Amino acid sequence: MKPNILLCSLLMLAGAVKLQAQSLFNKTTENKITTLIRQMTLDEKLSLLHANSSFTSAGIKRLGIPEIVTSDGPHGVRPEHGRDWVLDEGVEDAGTYLPTGNTLAASWNPQLGYRYGAVLGSEASYRGKDIILGPGINIIRSPLNGRNFEYLSEDPFLISKMVVGYIKGVQDQGVSACVKHYAANNEEADRGTVNVMMSERALRELYLPGFKAAVQEARVNAVMGSYNKFRGQYATHHKYLINDILKGEWGFRGLVMSDWGSVHDTKEALLYGTDLEMGTDLMLMYNTVSQTAASGGPAKTDYYSQFFMADPAKKMILDKEIGVAVIDEKVRRILRVMFATHMIDGKRKKGSYHTESHQQTALQVAEEGIVLLKNQSGLLPLSVSGIRSLAVIGENATRENAMGGGSSQVKAKYEITPLQGLKNYAGKETEIRYARGYKIAKDQQADQTMIAEAVAAAAKADAAIIFCGWTHGYDYSKWDNNAYDAEGVDKPDMDMPFGQNELIRAVLKANPKTVIVLMGGGPLDMSAWIDEAPAVIEGWYPGMEGGNALAKIIYGQVNPSGKLPLTFPKKLEDSPAHKFGEFPGLNGVVHYKEDIFVGYRYFDTYKVKPQFAFGHGLSYTTFAYSGMSVQPAAKGVILKANVKNSGTRDGAEVVQVYVKQNQSKIRKAEKELKGFKKVFLKAGEEQQIEVLLDSDAFKYYDEGKKGWLTAPGSFTIMAGSSSDDIRGERTISL
Ligand code: BGC
Repeated sequence: MKPNILLCSLLMLAGAVKLQAQSLFNKTTENKITTLIRQMTLDEKLSLLHANSSFTSAGIKRLGIPEIVTSDGPHGVRPEHGRDWVLDEGVEDAGTYLPTGNTLAASWNPQLGYRYGAVLGSEASYRGKDIILGPGINIIRSPLNGRNFEYLSEDPFLISKMVVGYIKGVQDQGVSACVKHYAANNEEADRGTVNVMMSERALRELYLPGFKAAVQEARVNAVMGSYNKFRGQYATHHKYLINDILKGEWGFRGLVMSDWGSVHDTKEALLYGTDLEMGTDLMLMYNTVSQTAASGGPAKTDYYSQFFMADPAKKMILDKEIGVAVIDEKVRRILRVMFATHMIDGKRKKGSYHTESHQQTALQVAEEGIVLLKNQSGLLPLSVSGIRSLAVIGENATRENAMGGGSSQVKAKYEITPLQGLKNYAGKETEIRYARGYKIAKDQQADQTMIAEAVAAAAKADAAIIFCGWTHGYDYSKWDNNAYDAEGVDKPDMDMPFGQNELIRAVLKANPKTVIVLMGGGPLDMSAWIDEAPAVIEGWYPGMEGGNALAKIIYGQVNPSGKLPLTFPKKLEDSPAHKFGEFPGLNGVVHYKEDIFVGYRYFDTYKVKPQFAFGHGLSYTTFAYSGMSVQPAAKGVILKANVKNSGTRDGAEVVQVYVKQNQSKIRKAEKELKGFKKVFLKAGEEQQIEVLLDSDAFKYYDEGKKGWLTAPGSFTIMAGSSSDDIRGERTISL
């Protein structure tokens, strides 16, 4: 390695990096927008800046400007709500239910991210939606966040790579993506009030890169401001986050919409970046009714005109407190998005709906995202002919999940449950016996009768599979019955609910050939049974084809290749936010004291052994690494390695590249993911893979100098099969 050559090429690269022009910006369009704005009255302009129903904002008919129709959400187009919140009857709104965010991220396959986005975009366009409210990309800071299942990862690099494909996939179908929730919305229960405090370095290195990639690489059309406060100011109208960083530094030219009801102040919204105020009439109704009752005034009914960016904004303009140019700029951003997505000329191509190819994408994401966590003595895959009787246990084996979790609910055209999937793929002669084992109910107790039934079924069978873990809630039709993996709530702890530990231990005793399949949005405490369990799979919420994907993996028709996009701690206290006692915070304030040490950055640096490490995931084959080299290249450093499928089954490996700075004066994590490549190899096949590490891979955010710097010194570049399974490393000096 020649450090001086390397340094030169890195410096050249740094100089060459420039902001990419937004595709939203085009001179001819800007002129058309100017002409339209000149023709608008103040009332017309303001009507564009706020909702006029639960999911729409107004158009201006006489000028040919249509309404904007938005829809959740990240893993499927939400059922029709009409203009209020009442679910529409008799409409065609049962579509493709994709695996949730964790599953997509666990595939570590950016091309699949594109296909995923394309399904959403196509179905959104078919259903007449202009903006799809996703992806959700907040950093998974604690295992307890109720919305982790929608999000992607604890790692900003993995998020950035996956989000770009997703957004391009959506927007190539002619509809806008809306990346959310900007920014630092990392807990749910008190999301509307919590004030998040963190260092500038943590903000820049962890919490913002996904959004930056969405803006600068994927050129996302819309960004959603989050509910929480950040350093004392509401994130949806935040001078620093929106004006200075998003629209200033990053050059974002699209529109910033609020989360539903996240605007709190007219002047701040006007001045600090909110372009479109969305929300629920119900919330406002509640507020206005209670306010008017308190003041003894007449009851108000026209809720939308009372939005912060409606009548109160008009008053500020008329009182000359705010100049009309502020409004014009917001209108311009909204119109830009309309032009970019052919809303005005009506030339958008119509997408398609719940097609077989969409369902195939759902299947492939699940197949590549499900993670094989443990497989002792090769229990998996089960042999179709060898297993004549199978006990399938657990309420999660039969539970449908599409409508759970809150705003990301989807009405699925169909949903293959794990039990159905196993019936589809088991041998014809296999006798499958199902036992519920536990029940999802507010009453947390283990049910001894159900456990006894499960034990009896397992004892008689050649093998048993328990589908267990988290759930979206007790009863999805009622919001207040949300639990665990759901919007508006956080998990109380990492313990398995409903007496599942007891069930698992009893079944393992009855039949040691028991496979544990965990469903849900992330880790739980497995200490009660993990040592005795020979095989464990993380199944996430794997979408409408999830049952088939799980069965194909269990029977070996698909070789698992998913890798964890987040660390699974042994116990909650090991997780950094909890170690510092900073989740959910105290008296409305949460200090991110773990700073940049989130997820594996913490576990590796502070030598805390997790249950399963970031990037971990087994295969039914083995991969051998050799010939690793690191060379300078025009755009940075290239890592090369030979990867051989050294086993007997075709399979895929995710080669993960981590960088560590040695002996730095700056506090650095033990390793940071800076590149990865998923490679598909036939049994016996070998390929040389190349991963480019650009100059950013070696930088940290310097708070004093307010910029990204490389501290000279030596760096170790590691390639591995997971963050705790490094197969080779090289040291370079910069
Ligand atoms: C959620 C958003 C969602 C919006 C509209 C909010 O409660 O936080 O993610 O897009 O509702 O349903």
